[in-house]
Amino acid sequence: MVEAELMRVSIIGTGYLGATTAACLTDMGFEVIGVDVDEAKIDMLRSGQVPFYEPGLDEILTENMKTGRLRFTTSFAEAAEFADLHLVCVGTPQRDDSGAADLSYVNSAIEQLAPHLTRPTVVVGRSTVPVGTAATLAARLATLAPVGEEAELGWSPEFLREGFGVEDTLHPNRIVIGTESPRVEKVMRALWQRQINEGVPFLVTDMQTAELVKVSANAFLATKISFINAMAEVSEVAGADVMQLAEALSYDDRIGGKFLGPGLGFGGGCLPKDIRAFMARADELGVEPALSFLREVDAINQRRRARTIDIARQLIGGNFAGRTVTVLGAAFKPNSDDIRDSPALDVASTIASLGARVTVYDPAALDRAREEHPQLGYAPSMLEAAQDADVVLLLTEWAEFREANPKKLGAVVAQKKIVDGRNALDPTYWRASGWTYRALGRQ
Ligand code: UDX
Repeated sequence: MVEAELMRVSIIGTGYLGATTAACLTDMGFEVIGVDVDEAKIDMLRSGQVPFYEPGLDEILTENMKTGRLRFTTSFAEAAEFADLHLVCVGTPQRDDSGAADLSYVNSAIEQLAPHLTRPTVVVGRSTVPVGTAATLAARLATLAPVGEEAELGWSPEFLREGFGVEDTLHPNRIVIGTESPRVEKVMRALWQRQINEGVPFLVTDMQTAELVKVSANAFLATKISFINAMAEVSEVAGADVMQLAEALSYDDRIGGKFLGPGLGFGGGCLPKDIRAFMARADELGVEPALSFLREVDAINQRRRARTIDIARQLIGGNFAGRTVTVLGAAFKPNSDDIRDSPALDVASTIASLGARVTVYDPAALDRAREEHPQLGYAPSMLEAAQDADVVLLLTEWAEFREANPKKLGAVVAQKKIVDGRNALDPTYWRASGWTYRALGRQ
C-alpha cells in the first residue's frame, strides 16, 4: 500500500454522496476516479457539471477537474487498476414491496468490482446499510476477488447533510470506521489525516457498530423532530404555542434547539427510509419491540401532512374543489433540489387530487417536480405562482419565502390566507398586513 499523499481512491457511485466525496478528496490532495454505471451522469461530471443542486459543489468540482487528479469512468476494470482504496457510495433506497432497504446497488457494486481486484486492496462502504450487511459483503468480496482475502472490506458511515455536503465532508463532526483489520484502519487514518490533525474524533469500531451508528443517528434525529411535532399536536388543542415551547426547551443544553423545529416534518432520501429499514432489520433480528417507537415517529410525521391539508381546507371554507391553491416549496428542505419523499409535494398532490388547481414554485426543484408530478401547475416565480390564490401554503422554508413581503404577495392573491407549514414567518407581521395566518402547533 502506498503512502497517503500518493493514495489513489475510487468512488463507486457518483450520486449526491459520491460526487461530493470525489470532489472533496481531490481537493484534499488525493488522486480520485469516480465510477458509475450511469453513462449520462458520468458524461455530465466529465464536463464539470454537477447533476444536482448542491451549494459550493460546482466550484470545487470545476477547480479540481483542472488539476487532472479527478476523473470519471464507467469501467470497474479501470477503477480497480487505478485505485488502492475503493469507497462504495451507492444508494440504498426503500424497497418497493416493504420498508426494508434495497441492497441491489451495494451488492452489484461489490460484484462488479471484486473480479478486477488482483492486488491487495481496501474497500470501504459508506452507504447506509442494515446492520449485518458489511459482514456478508466482506465474505463475498474475498470470494469473488482473485486476490482473495487480501481484498479487505470495512464500513464507514457518512453523515452528510444535503445543502452542506462539501462542508460536512471536509469538516466532519466525527469519523467512524468499522473494521477489525489493521490495514483498513491504517488506510482510513491516512485518508482522513488532515481531519484527524484538526481534532475531528476518529472512532474505530467493529463493522456492526459502525453500521448502527448511522441508522441510530438518523433515528434519533427523526425522533427529535417527531417529538416536537407531537408537542405541536398537543399545543394546538391545549391552546399553547409550540414555537415558544420549543424555544423554552432549547435553553436546556441537555435537550438543545437543533432539530426541534416544529412543522410539516421530515422527508428526503434518508430519514424516512432509514427509520423504516431500521425497523425492518430489527424485525428480522427478533428485536422488533426495541424499535416499535419508530412506527409512532413515522406516524406523527405523516399526520403533519394531513394536518397541514386540514388547516388549508378550513381556511377556504371546507372544500378544495375548484379552488386556486399556491404551494411555496417543492424540495424536501431548503438549499436542495431533492424531491425524494418531499412533504411539500405530497401535500400539493393530495390537495390537487381533492379538486384544487395547485400551482407550485420552488427556487431549485421545479424541473424535478414537474417531471415527477406533471398533474400540478408550476410557475417561474413566487408572485406568478400566487396569482389569484385562495390560499397560499409555505411548505419548504427557503430564505426567499421567509423574507417574502406580505404586501407584495397580498397584492396578487385572491384571498390573503396563508398556512405556514414550517413556522418560518412572523405571524404578527403577516396579520398586521391583513393576512389570515395559520401554522401548525399555534393558535
Ligand atoms: C439527514 C441527516 O441529517 C444526515 O446526517 C444524514 O447523513 C442524511 O440524512 P438530510 O436528509 O440532508 O440529512 O436532511 P436534514 O437536514 O437532516 O433534514 C431532514 C428533514 O427534516 C427535512 O425534511 C427537514 O425539513 C426536516 N426537519 C429538520 C424538520 O422538520 N425540523 C427540524 O427541526 C429539522
